[in-house]
Amino acid sequence: AQKEGFVNAPDTDYSREVLREKAQQALVKVKDSLGKTYLPLINGEYVQTDVIIDSLNPSKSSEVVGQIGLISIEQAEQALNAAKEAFKDWKKTPATERARILRKAGDLMEERRHELSAWICVEVGKILQQADAEVSEAIDFCRYYADEMERLDKGYNYDVAGETNRYHYQPRGIALVISPWNFPFAIATGMTVAALVTGNCTLLKPAETSTVIAAKIAEILVDAGIPKGVFQLVPGKGSKVGAYMVNHPDVHLIAFTGSREVGCRIYADAAILQPGQKHLKRVIAEMGGKNAIIVDESADLDQAVAGAVFSAFGYTGQKCSAASRIIVLDPVYDAFLERFVDATKSLNVGPTDEPSTQVGPVIDATAQKRILEYIETAKQESTLALAMEAPDNGFYVGPTIFGDVLPNHTIAQEEIFGPVVAVMRVKNFDEALEVANGTDYALTGGLYSRSPEHIEQAQKEFEVGNLYINRTITGAIVARQPFGGFKLSGVGSKAGGPDYLLQFLEPRHISENI
Ligand code: NAD
Ligand code: ALA
Repeated sequence: AQKEGFVNAPDTDYSREVLREKAQQALVKVKDSLGKTYLPLINGEYVQTDVIIDSLNPSKSSEVVGQIGLISIEQAEQALNAAKEAFKDWKKTPATERARILRKAGDLMEERRHELSAWICVEVGKILQQADAEVSEAIDFCRYYADEMERLDKGYNYDVAGETNRYHYQPRGIALVISPWNFPFAIATGMTVAALVTGNCTLLKPAETSTVIAAKIAEILVDAGIPKGVFQLVPGKGSKVGAYMVNHPDVHLIAFTGSREVGCRIYADAAILQPGQKHLKRVIAEMGGKNAIIVDESADLDQAVAGAVFSAFGYTGQKCSAASRIIVLDPVYDAFLERFVDATKSLNVGPTDEPSTQVGPVIDATAQKRILEYIETAKQESTLALAMEAPDNGFYVGPTIFGDVLPNHTIAQEEIFGPVVAVMRVKNFDEALEVANGTDYALTGGLYSRSPEHIEQAQKEFEVGNLYINRTITGAIVARQPFGGFKLSGVGSKAGGPDYLLQFLEPRHISENI
């Protein structure tokens, strides 16, 4: 059963005409506001910057969604100093007050739901329905972490006769949140509010390509009453200003979600003790995946095909949870591949502001080029089963399926992060699990099967952080499917789960002889 007492924010029911109209009106309003400038928020002020970059609409790359001010190293230093100053009061602010601000932020997000979904749609090319689910997830993070902090704030009482023994938690200090573009609202909000509610002063460094959405998070937190210097928005180039802050001796904690390459770099850099640093940094790093769905000979193929299509091509394959390998047992391989290709062909590929679109663009020109290169490599190694056409006025790549992919092929091992799927044939279920587990990653995995033995074996042996049986493998829900992986998919407890906030806290124990 779901965690008692917690109620998830429901997604918009787009089958209701009135809500469809509201969503369309919000989209029109957002489109009328494109091209504005978004500046960093440092110590309660929006500050000018020397460098301004354009954030483009991936569906229509000539369209500038917003102009982004990127901070300099000096401004990063100012923000860190402001955070240090603000921490003096924030660490003393009662948990109930911090939780109140989060709940208020969640309510503001609910009020602005359609507008926020529209910004996600235009800035990162996500269809409205999935952008809306992201808004729900962000609201859930605010409300769930508020509840969780109030639970943890009670601490533990181990008193014995003549002696009190109290166990409680205190904040760590300054938290640096480094977020990706693919869940620009939910993941950036989740890491940020977790750091804030636990009493840390928090700097949010969003991905360059999704900074307009991060600026909306900043607006909401300010409106919710976050004090100056406690939360700061510090957009900047990851490899420059991001790396500078990671290495800074005043940072206590880094909450990162992004690629394996950058996550491993941050993990290594953060371990180096800098001059004047009197603590070891805590790093939470949620990284990539090479997620597989196994389809066995007993599977309901209608269900498996629909689930594989959604898991592979939802948000154009750009979810860390997306399926990029489908491992099919030999007796049903040919039937599955044929039906998977046919079902994929029916997807509408196009701009995400079109209500009929199911697969939008990829995030930017660099991603488009990288994905097309993977497709060329895969053509040398395996058999192209489908390459769909896509528009050419944005960063599009049509859904692409390869068959006869072997475990050592490039597209069976490396995270492509696009709409490219490897379909792999195996002889039996043991081999299916061996192939599924045969990558560096362990994030999500799926199984379509009606065999109780196979289901039980997968529960024990499928090495993934989140295993989904006879359903899609994306779209984890807060407090229902706490989310996160292991191996090279990441280090840290699951987001939206009962252990998550502990990472942002320092436990203390006080024993008093009375
Ligand atoms: P990325 O690693 O390129 O960037 C993530 C963030 O790191 C950005 O804010 C970027 O500016 C910053 N950055 C880059 N270099 C840096 C450096 N040297 N020091 C400090 N910061 C730096 O990732 P992305 O392209 O934004 O996101 C896609 C990746 O994220 C995929 O690999 C995906 O699997 C992963 N992801 C994982 C999860 C999860 O929960 N496991 C969720 C979403 C995305
Ligand atoms: N939490 C996101 C999902 O489950 C990444 O799809």
